[in-house]
Amino acid sequence: MSKKLFIKTWGCQMNVYDSARMADVLAPLGYRPVEEPEGADMVILNTCHIREKASEKVFSDLGRLRGLKDRKAAEGDGRMIVAVAGCVAQAEGEEILARMPHVDMVFGPQNYHTLPEMVARVTRAAGSVLNTDFPAESKFDFLPEEEGAQGVAAFLAVQEGCDKFCTFCVVPYTRGAEFSRPAAQVLAEARRMVAAGTAEITLLGQNVNAWHGDGPDGSSWGLGRLIRELAEIDGLARIRYTTSHPRDMDEDLIRAHAEVPQLMPYLHLPVQSGSDRILAAMNRKHTADDYRRVIDRLRAAKPDLALSGDFIVGFPGETDADFAETLRLVTDVGYAQAYTFKYSPRPGTPASVDGGQLSEEVKGARLEALQQLIAAQQIAFNQGFVGRTVPVLFDRRGKQDGQLLGRSPWMQSVYVQGNDRLFGRMVEVRIDAAYSNSLTGAVVTGEWTSGAPYTGSAPHSGNTHTGNQGIEVEALA
Ligand code: SAH
Ligand code: SF4
Ligand code: F3S
Repeated sequence: MSKKLFIKTWGCQMNVYDSARMADVLAPLGYRPVEEPEGADMVILNTCHIREKASEKVFSDLGRLRGLKDRKAAEGDGRMIVAVAGCVAQAEGEEILARMPHVDMVFGPQNYHTLPEMVARVTRAAGSVLNTDFPAESKFDFLPEEEGAQGVAAFLAVQEGCDKFCTFCVVPYTRGAEFSRPAAQVLAEARRMVAAGTAEITLLGQNVNAWHGDGPDGSSWGLGRLIRELAEIDGLARIRYTTSHPRDMDEDLIRAHAEVPQLMPYLHLPVQSGSDRILAAMNRKHTADDYRRVIDRLRAAKPDLALSGDFIVGFPGETDADFAETLRLVTDVGYAQAYTFKYSPRPGTPASVDGGQLSEEVKGARLEALQQLIAAQQIAFNQGFVGRTVPVLFDRRGKQDGQLLGRSPWMQSVYVQGNDRLFGRMVEVRIDAAYSNSLTGAVVTGEWTSGAPYTGSAPHSGNTHTGNQGIEVEALA
């Protein structure tokens, strides 16, 4: 008999990927995903520990789940297994079990391949399972193949963990040491995904550009080489990767941006601060000018590259002058979009015990100033696309009837009114309006044949869009 599985996911794309893999592990046990926790036979909260707010939500959700679990039992509908996974589980496993006795399983990001054993243990006996030791084996060697189609745009984890130990960050503690999946394993998974209909793959890792592996000939590969190999897969139209660290941006990867047409002209490259003093205190091991130089090399290779970043304001000891350096860096670089965060002291990290903690007021004011600057850059970037025609891969349906939502090569969300037949396809869209977070447009002439590489350029590179040349276009009528 089929059992109901509800998974709620917080945090980064890696957690989204992990949730999909957890569902794959549980499928042979009869668990099928459902949309609501009510009446579910298993509820997994896949959690994020990165900032205080993200962590707190877990405990309030667990409180609510207790009611659902009790009701299910009272109705004679069997037991609801409540599980906490992800980075809060890894960091606070024992505390969760102590505070929340109705939780049955707590396991970390490197342990979910053992779900069948954990389920067997909690169903055999009363009591709970805590599984947060970092295992010697790689979970990737034990995970089953993906269940069915992963979607037209999908994630593929290639690297996990972090050895960088930025002083504000919990990730090295929650995800463990840097690990790269073997190239052959990654390529096999990508081929299966494309065979099942995926046209765009985003390679994932906490430090994805630190990925390294051995090629079949024994030579050492970096991420640039892996991307070139992926680009050989017929039907894989788009490749992206996230998140990168400025120090791991090597020459071959930069060249791949110039040479691999399937590699999309968008890069998320966090810098956190523009002040060398703060960057040193953060243990980023690069200066603001190091970052500027990396950006220059990337833009020399790919002039239309859209850049995104992460910024932390209000790091302990950050002065007005430090913050001004951050604004200056943002002005110099010019972002297509960026994520901004108030510094959040995290348990166990060096910066959390630093004496120079700043007030909420200071953090709030700086956040607002930075967000204003970035919003202006974002809207200017998007406005440059009005009147242009860009290829859009429609991977979602909008909230309104007949609305389709997809991404441009530069990662912008593009909305159109269109026939549902376009869902899952790459289509030319003429952009008619730009907003700070999206574009709207209308479908034009024809459809991109899935698998055809996109070779156009962004508006500000000065070239007109030439993506159609030499590519078979399927008529829509
Ligand atoms: N591995 C990636 C990002 C990991 S976390 C990298 O190295 O860039 C995603 C973002 O969350 C970080 O880039 C940082 O901007 C933010 N972040 C991490 N810890 C934080 C903290 N303690 N307070 C506020 N923001 C934080
Ligand atoms: Fe965290 Fe720094 Fe590692 Fe990124 S590089 S995951 S910010 S420690
Ligand atoms: Fe959060 Fe863990 Fe990702 S802390 S951001 S879910 S690596």
